[in-house]
Amino acid sequence: MTGRLAGKVVIITGGARGQGAVEGELFASEGAEVVLTDVLEDEGRAAAAAIGCGFMAQDVSLAEDWQRVVDDVDARFGRIDVLVNNAAIFQRRKLADTTPEDFERLFAINVRGVFLGMKTVAPVMQRAGSGSIINISSLAGLVAAPGAFAYGASKWAVRGMTKTAAVELAKYGVRCNSIHPGMIETDMLDQVTLGDDGRRQRMLASVPLGRVAEPLDIARMALFLASDDSRYATGAEFVVDGGSHAL
Ligand SMILES: NC(=O)c1ccc[n+]([C@@H]2O[C@H](COP(=O)([O-])OP(=O)(O)OC[C@H]3O[C@@H](n4cnc5c(N)ncnc54)[C@H](O)[C@@H]3O)[C@@H](O)[C@H]2O)c1
Repeated sequence: MTGRLAGKVVIITGGARGQGAVEGELFASEGAEVVLTDVLEDEGRAAAAAIGCGFMAQDVSLAEDWQRVVDDVDARFGRIDVLVNNAAIFQRRKLADTTPEDFERLFAINVRGVFLGMKTVAPVMQRAGSGSIINISSLAGLVAAPGAFAYGASKWAVRGMTKTAAVELAKYGVRCNSIHPGMIETDMLDQVTLGDDGRRQRMLASVPLGRVAEPLDIARMALFLASDDSRYATGAEFVVDGGSHAL
């Protein structure tokens, strides 16, 4: 198989739908051995079957699920070259409406999930002396996220963890970067806009390129970071937001 990811073994979390599924399809088309994971088992298996790649049920907030996934993929392929920490949940709640339980539930997935993913996969990458970890943050990890307090905080945490991991893992040849998408056309965007077209149009008014991203727009940045084309990039933020952050 040829392609920009030929011979690379890739784990993508939250791969049952949306962004993760499109990344899986693109990466597989570039020659990677892809394993999608998700809590949504039926959708995950269907997405993997359509792509022709692997699927494992996984809750990213659980350390034992991470160990099972990493051990299994390592045993099957003998290496793990790329981890895309993509799984996340969204909550539309202001600071005043966020309960401690809401906050902890969201952080368990969006923050502990990314921490556990990096921690569990790093020894396998260190053994090979190479690897690329791609953490999906958000524009909400660069600016305020009014109305989505815990979500915004979690995406800043992802950005911060990415930088420290990048510096700690650099001497082992392992790179770690974050991607900061703006609006992407997925199920999550419906939660952000509450399915309200007026709200969607108001948000779109702050996107200089004038359109919502297709998942493929973000997947192509992930492909660059997964491939050796980005071999000198680590600890960095890659903003893919149609220009919103420039305003
Ligand atoms: N859609 C947007 O506008 C947007 C903007 C910026 C950033 N993002 C980020 O992009 C990434 C992908 O989101 P999406 O838009 O494809 O959303 P999505 O809701 O379509 O997909 C998220 C996937 O994560 C899975 N997931 C949720 N909890 C999980 C858990 N505990 N363990 C394993 N999997 C779990 C879901 O089942 C789902 O398949 C997320 O990190 C999100 O925060 C999205």
